[in-house]
Amino acid sequence: MFEIRSLIRKFGEKTAVDKVSVSIPDAAMIGIIGRSGAGKSTLLRILNRMTDATSGEILHEGRNILSLRGADKRAWQCDCAMIFQQFNLVPRMDVVSNVLHGTLNRRSTLSTMFNLYPQNDIHRAIDILDRLGIAEQAPKRADALSGGQQQRVAIARALMQDPKIILADEPIASLDPMNATIVMDSLRRIHDEDGRTVICNLHTLDTARRYCDRVIGMRDGRVVFDGSPEQLTTGAARDIYGAGADFSEAATSTDIGALEKPGRQPDLVSA
Ligand SMILES: Nc1ncnc2c1ncn2[C@@H]1O[C@H](COP(=O)(O)OP(=O)(O)O)[C@@H](O)[C@H]1O
Ligand SMILES: [Mg+2]
Repeated sequence: MFEIRSLIRKFGEKTAVDKVSVSIPDAAMIGIIGRSGAGKSTLLRILNRMTDATSGEILHEGRNILSLRGADKRAWQCDCAMIFQQFNLVPRMDVVSNVLHGTLNRRSTLSTMFNLYPQNDIHRAIDILDRLGIAEQAPKRADALSGGQQQRVAIARALMQDPKIILADEPIASLDPMNATIVMDSLRRIHDEDGRTVICNLHTLDTARRYCDRVIGMRDGRVVFDGSPEQLTTGAARDIYGAGADFSEAATSTDIGALEKPGRQPDLVSA
């Protein structure tokens, strides 16, 4: 579907993204893992054109999306919706209006100013909330919801754009394990049912292994691993995280998934 070629992004002396070349096929579910500072967010932001690249290209349907301007650039940004760790909702506004914000770039300034939304859009927003299991939250203020619910509102807002690609930057980093599971299940289901590409920056190995068909490991701006979860051995993980012999997967693990592994449960057997 699109191809990233020799992508570089420098911030002064620092090379945040260092010659990244990756092909992303249609309907992929990809996890990007790596330490903090590895360049994961910068890569997603370049994809969505929130940040410019220093050099390189991203080819999509015969065009370099890095040179899109004006309406073409906005159309691309509509095609790849972004989800953030901190949800980025308008806290004091009700849930359904937050979701309707996903249609902003196709509405006039005047209708936006007066919060006027077409009836069709309102119905669609409710349907999407329903699909994510939070329709009954629609009239509430966004800041009255739990973190997991807020992140599902953010996913609903993204779906309002009907994007081909969903870019999620650490979507579960602020959530407890139960809500993390609900949010990752939602993203996986959207991928499975709609065939949308999901590219998800994840802090932890086990989430990437469990939810993604392909894992890309970044270290110091470079792609140091690109393969299936099965290929992601402890050795490969050690390489991605730049850890020494004392590397332990538990150190890069949230409780999600790990909870199910018998070895990590408290020992209930008494002597
Ligand atoms: N706007 C910026 N200005 C200066 N340096 C930045 C900026 N954004 C990111 N960086 C640097 O680029 C590197 C990669 O950052 P980032 O993409 O946020 O990594 P990650 O998401 O993997 O934690 C880091 O060293 C970070 O400090
Ligand atoms: Mg980041």
